[in-house]
Amino acid sequence: MRRPINRRFFMGTTAAASLSTLAIGASPPATVGSRRPTAVASGNGLRAVERAVELVKNGYDPLDAAVEGVAIVEADPADNSVGYGGLPNEDGVVELDGAVMHGPTHGGGSVASIRNIMHPAAVARLVMKRTRHCLIVGDGALRFARAHGFPEVDLLTDESRKIWLHWKETRDPNDDWVPPPEPEVADHVHEYIKKRVTGTIHCSVLDTHGDLGCTTTTSGLSWKIPGRVGDSPILGAGLYLDNEVGSAGSTGVGEANLLNLSSHLIVEAMRRGLTAKDAVMEALKRVAETSVRDPKRRRPDGKTTFNVSFYALAKDGTFAGGCMYPGGKMAVHDGDSARIVVLDPLYEK
Ligand code: GLY
Repeated sequence: MRRPINRRFFMGTTAAASLSTLAIGASPPATVGSRRPTAVASGNGLRAVERAVELVKNGYDPLDAAVEGVAIVEADPADNSVGYGGLPNEDGVVELDGAVMHGPTHGGGSVASIRNIMHPAAVARLVMKRTRHCLIVGDGALRFARAHGFPEVDLLTDESRKIWLHWKETRDPNDDWVPPPEPEVADHVHEYIKKRVTGTIHCSVLDTHGDLGCTTTTSGLSWKIPGRVGDSPILGAGLYLDNEVGSAGSTGVGEANLLNLSSHLIVEAMRRGLTAKDAVMEALKRVAETSVRDPKRRRPDGKTTFNVSFYALAKDGTFAGGCMYPGGKMAVHDGDSARIVVLDPLYEK
């Protein structure tokens, strides 16, 4: 039988299920240091970096700042790649992955294939802080979140359901699902079907003491096989940090990152002395080289079939991003103001 939901956080509406993650697992603010804070995120993370820098300027831990920053996007039904409103798996069920890493303790935690919980990054933080494990999946992750008082919510918005239904009704002309007449289908629905959503949000934060924290959270690849886990919750793949070196994360099609542990590659490249920019480009080249050995991931011109973006934040506050093909963006807050930066691609097309 389902346990009663903690009334402190649940008020019966979806909006209420978007809680301040500072209330459920964050540390109280401490002293403020003298260093300039910096935050970087994927292109959908402008509000995340703004919030994260505001928090570290008020003494919050860099991981708590990152988790609270991405919570804005996790709760936003308009972002179809993360949290509430994320596009579902092939059965029409939203399954989320999320992970965190904390610089000062070199701690990490993740949840994968978690259903009905809007803030997987905050659950991952509790896996790190309140268990001896690093990764909890599926029903176990949901029960763990419930035990800590996270409210449950149906993550499938009406908009995401309609997009999924259209995918289901158009995927095979020989099955028994029949789409509505064309004029009844909104143009943007076609866009989601033409190009699969692989979005995600990553956020890395450097606080005023020079300490790092990072998180990556996602609804994963749209229409994925139920139970599929991408790179986002895998430490070393979707994110990685070393408090002495820097932090990195990724968005895009996760399988190539799983096969290369790209975020770990980027941090290790920075440890060897590469700049954030060179570390990102080296990782993109490695992913490109290894991926095309598999015909599933190789286009006829010998390049990869997928796009992926990387974000890196070095311990000294320098940062960079890069992507396989044009189109990637990055949100940056340099301590003074936030902006969107267009990423340099490895390949022009
Ligand atoms: N990078 C997100 C995913 O592949 O699930």
